Order: sequence, then C-alpha cells, then structure tokens
Amino acid sequence: MKGIILAGGGGTRLYPLTKVTVKQLLPVYDKPMIYYPLSTLMLSGIRDILIISTPADTPRLQALLGDGSQFGIRLSYCVQPSPDGLAQAFILGEAFLNGEAGAMILGDNIFYGNGFRTMLQAAERNAEENGRATVFGCCVPDPQRFGVVAFDKDWKALSIEEKPAAPKSNYAVTGLYFYPAGVSDRAKEVRPSARGELEITTLNERYLADGLLDVQLLGRGFAWMDAGTVDSLLAAANFVEMVQKRQGIVISAPEEVAYINGFITARQLLDAAALYGSSPYGAHLRSVAEGKVRY
Ligand code: DAU
Repeated sequence: MKGIILAGGGGTRLYPLTKVTVKQLLPVYDKPMIYYPLSTLMLSGIRDILIISTPADTPRLQALLGDGSQFGIRLSYCVQPSPDGLAQAFILGEAFLNGEAGAMILGDNIFYGNGFRTMLQAAERNAEENGRATVFGCCVPDPQRFGVVAFDKDWKALSIEEKPAAPKSNYAVTGLYFYPAGVSDRAKEVRPSARGELEITTLNERYLADGLLDVQLLGRGFAWMDAGTVDSLLAAANFVEMVQKRQGIVISAPEEVAYINGFITARQLLDAAALYGSSPYGAHLRSVAEGKVRY
C-alpha cells in the first residue's frame, strides 16, 4: 500500500502564524507538525509516500524531509496548485498510486494511543485483501467542526455528513483514510460541493452507499487532535509535552518508527540523530539506538 500526506491548504485560520509558511511546518512542541502524520503512515508499514502541498511550500517540505532515505522510506512530492478539496489528493496522486490501494492522512492530524499499529494494519489489509475502505471515528464535543458519522444500534455506519449544523452523532471522522485499489477513479467522479471543494466526505459517502466502508472507532484513552486552529495547535503541543515528559518517550519521531519497523539499522539511527545536534530530540534518538529505551 502507498500513502499520501496532504499538507497544503490556505492556513488562514492560523494567520499570522501561516503568513509565510504552511502550517504543517509549524512546531507542535518539539518537532514540525508533519512529523506526526508521517510517523502514523510509517507505523502502518507504508514505505512509499507522496507529500502534496502548495506551490510555495512543497520545496520547503522537501528541504526538511528530503527523499526519505534517512527514514528508510521513499518520499515524493507533488504540488496542489490551489486548495480545491481533500479528494483531489487522489486525482493528483493517480500516477503515484499506479492503481494500488492508498492511505491518506491530513498533515495536521495527530494520533496517539495504544494498539494503534494493529488498527492501522487491519485497515491496510481491509483495503488490500477485502477491497474495502476504512475511516476512523472519534468521539468529540464539537462534531459540527468535522465530518460526522452516524450509526445504527449495532454500530453500523448509516451516514456521513460534512460539518452538519445539526450533527446526528458526536463521532467525527478523523483525517486518516484507507482506500482499496481504484480510489483515483472514484475520486474523479466526485463533483464540487456548495463551497466549491472536492470533499473527502463525498468520496466516503460513495463507498458507504456501495456497502464498502468500515468505520473503526478510536476508544477512550485514544488521543486524536487536529492542529488547525490556534487553540488546537496549543492544545496539541501541551498534550505532547505532558505525555513525553511524564513517560520519557517521544511521540511520533519518524526515525524511531523507522528503527522499530526495521526500515533502518541502529547505525543509521545514530547517523540520523547526529543531524539533530545537541537537541533533546537528537538525544532521544541516540538513546533508542543505544538500547536505553526498549520496546
Ligand atoms: O481533521 C478531520 C477533518 O478534516 C474531517 O473530519 C473532515 O471531514 C474533513 O473535511 C477535514 O475537515 P477540515 O475542516 O479540517 O478541512 P480543511 O479544509 O481545513 O482541510 C484539512 C487539511 O487539509 C488542512 O490542513 C488543509 C489541507 N488542505 C485542505 C484542502 C481543502 C489541503 O492541503 N488541500 C486542500 O485542497
């Protein structure tokens, strides 16, 4: 399976922070925001990833992340000329996907929780072996800000609506999507919404209508954050700081995920750590390579 990170958009909700940079390069505590979604895709085992961003920011993201060899993966880049909607990622990424199944994560979505890797791998198998799509539902206090999924009494998904004024449930659809082969063809059938965007929710509605959409719930104890507003950006940073300091771990370090997954060796991890100088992030990678942090 291949992966896409959608890391563009206008970022106007974060002005003036995003006046001269895309938000996915802003810090979430100790690392750039894009490290989090990148780590999530890598955690699922995906090693071939396309990063889509604005004309101005794609070179900046490339300067930060390079060709991905330091993570033992392949990174490619693609420009989205204007923010015409999330489903457009699969049209822009058609040649990259080359007919394969594909996962997409939004560049401002941060996931943290036990057993996440198992959930990701199940979604990947569901796409590749069963030809079914998977999205993740998470209970939130403000569902009208998100795509919202409603269920029947057996937790079977009944509907998905984008930012409804009167949400039918408190379950938001997170910005992480797994689709089977052929997703680009389906994305091309999506017509612009009233706000003029190719909505990911329309794509999901189509899979749902065809009985090909599964919703995995992220339960209690699972943290999902979208860092797209000033408040949620600060809340995400505070959360990461609190967990990292309390547990002595680092959330979403791509080099560490690469090492745990066997994408890179301990030697390569030490080389990667050296690139971060004397920062706490670099020190953490060194302690992982030296076996001081065990899994
Ligand atoms: O975070 C989860 C939510 O993400 C879902 O619940 C919604 O169903 C989904 O539509 C999306 O809602 P947002 O309000 O967060 O969408 P937004 O337009 O802000 O775009 C999400 C991210 O994608 C944002 O970081 C900007 C980027 N983006 C957006 C568009 C429309 C692009 O890179 N290109 C685009 O064309």
